[in-house]
Amino acid sequence: MEFEHIPVLAEEVLDFAPHASKSILDCTLGGGGHSRRLLEKFPEANLYGIDRDVKALNAAAECLKNYKKQIRLDHASFSELPRCFEKWGESRFDYILADIGLSSEQLARPERGFSFMYDGPLDMRMDPDRQDFTAADLVNNSSEHELLRILRTYGEEHFARKIVSAILAKREEKPLETTKELADLVGHVKPRRLQKPGFNPATLTFQAIRIVVNDELNELGVLLKEVPSCLKLDGRLAIISFHSLEDRMVKHQFRKWENPCVCPTDLPYCICGEKSLGRVITRRPVNASAKETTENPRSRSAHLRVFSFSKKDS
Ligand SMILES: C[S@@+](CC[C@H](N)C(=O)[O-])C[C@H]1O[C@@H](n2cnc3c(N)ncnc32)[C@H](O)[C@@H]1O
Repeated sequence: MEFEHIPVLAEEVLDFAPHASKSILDCTLGGGGHSRRLLEKFPEANLYGIDRDVKALNAAAECLKNYKKQIRLDHASFSELPRCFEKWGESRFDYILADIGLSSEQLARPERGFSFMYDGPLDMRMDPDRQDFTAADLVNNSSEHELLRILRTYGEEHFARKIVSAILAKREEKPLETTKELADLVGHVKPRRLQKPGFNPATLTFQAIRIVVNDELNELGVLLKEVPSCLKLDGRLAIISFHSLEDRMVKHQFRKWENPCVCPTDLPYCICGEKSLGRVITRRPVNASAKETTENPRSRSAHLRVFSFSKKDS
């Protein structure tokens, strides 16, 4: 089975791994590309992995078939990690990786409905086996107020009002059913002279809808809450994000872990008692090199941030 995905920032993900990592958690297996590279670097390690997409999980299992004895893979989302820890009998890791967002495979399959590049059903569910609510449900049934909120909050879309008016007018005639219908509608609404070259006008609308359909920011929030108690001393968390909303969440959480003190800045010493959990290793996000972006254009928007835990939160 072919799975189309090139792992982004793979060398950097390997370089930031703690020396002699013995247990690794990959929260976003995808096609298993990063996991395989990690197992090649740490042949003695046990690798635990999840993905909420069964197709990805199967592809990862195939990619990692030579490591059968040292891997445990499960169909789960970030919010189901505690259940996996119980099942695996393992909840402390040296290295945790989350390469969040979509795989090229998910984007390239028209039937998954994630892409404005291909015509397919307005679906966008990462886990179609367990999620009922689709992009079509959202677009056709949400109120005007809700659609505006979604496009503004999760797409940071300046033309939200115009796009929502066009959606409401269109669905008066008939429900929107395909990615092409939605992409064309957004393309017509946005003034051509204000469209960014090389940037599909429907990008932010699709991003906003996908985030809501898959509850992506809440999932990331749960992961960030869970992680401090799951890393061993000097363990590291590496997160690759692909849009500013996620990257901002990661950056703020890392800063808070490093410096959780809430005392007024004019106090000469800390009285709140909040202790740092470690340090941010990447002061700025690590981006793909020119070579990598040429070879894999998808890596252009990837930002990697890494945190090293030197204290336990409990
Ligand atoms: C960018 S791909 C990962 C690619 C992978 N690193 C590789 O090398 O092939 C992201 C994957 O994360 C999965 N994913 C996204 N959000 C998730 C979540 N909340 N829980 C579990 N898996 C998630 C997606 O289904 C997708 O397969």
